[in-house]
Amino acid sequence: ATKLNAAAVAAGKKYFGSATDNNELSDTAYVNILKDGQQFGQITPANSMKWDATEPNRGQFTFTGGDQIANFAKANGQLLRGHNCVWYNQLPGWVTNSGFNSSTLSSVVSTHCGTVVGHYKGQAYAWDVINEAFNDDGTWRSDVFYNTLGQAFVPTAFQAARAADPDAKLYINDYNIEGPGAKANAVSNLVSTLKAQGVPIDGIGVQAHLIVGQLPNLAQQLASFGSLGVEVAITELDIRTTLPASSATLQQQQRDYQTVIAACKGVAGCVGVTVWDYTDKYSWVPNTFSGQGAACPWDQNLQPKPAVQGILNGW
Ligand code: XIL
Repeated sequence: ATKLNAAAVAAGKKYFGSATDNNELSDTAYVNILKDGQQFGQITPANSMKWDATEPNRGQFTFTGGDQIANFAKANGQLLRGHNCVWYNQLPGWVTNSGFNSSTLSSVVSTHCGTVVGHYKGQAYAWDVINEAFNDDGTWRSDVFYNTLGQAFVPTAFQAARAADPDAKLYINDYNIEGPGAKANAVSNLVSTLKAQGVPIDGIGVQAHLIVGQLPNLAQQLASFGSLGVEVAITELDIRTTLPASSATLQQQQRDYQTVIAACKGVAGCVGVTVWDYTDKYSWVPNTFSGQGAACPWDQNLQPKPAVQGILNGW
């Protein structure tokens, strides 16, 4: 195969996909590449299904942005990954600052997850139900959910999501769990506990916001997650570098993309890989990591970089 999703499917995987955002869908040249189902078999909304976008005020749900992305995926025969139900970031002030007691916040979490996942019932292959719940040292993140409810917010969210769309695969998603370490262990331990308790969880999402030349041992960690009896997906892949990128750096980046893809290919439970947008034109990296970028497989001008060949080689 010469295209990325076709290569992933030929390797026995469900998809190779990309994140996108609503403003990007008015860029015709960008859309012409994104809509090619041989290239991208799956779409994730980068922002428009998040809490601040979908429930900006309590009980007032807005799905305009999310629907545009879901309809784009459907029109092009692409799978949809919902992103996300419960996250400390991009959370409206009415959740963060309200001082809700535990029974009210539990109901707020359940209503939010149930309503958002339910709105897309039958349309989403998977949902990131819980996003970024842990600190890098494996302790729980101190956010309004954990501080009010303890870890009970996790089963509450998964149960609401399952009831709302029984066919969607329900994931916990995080970063800095791509290789062995305290945070990956915390996720593994939680997933084992949830499964033992009968909480409906189907997958572990490994974000994979990585750095050129500094890959952790993905093959080992993906296999370890897979051994828990859940799906594994690489959900937000990009591999950044200090700008400007030299041609030697882009060659190393090609090898790094190949290594990541080969790690997924080699683990039976790894169902697919999503890049956190396919082009540097719309990457989140320069806005977040000062002086860094060039993290995506296509460049600012929508031209393929060596990384594209790396992905094909990996599959
Ligand atoms: C990012 C988006 O890409 C940006 O547009 C936004 O400004 C901030 O969030 N981990 C996640 C994603 O789970 O939701 C984040 O997306 C990137 C890090």
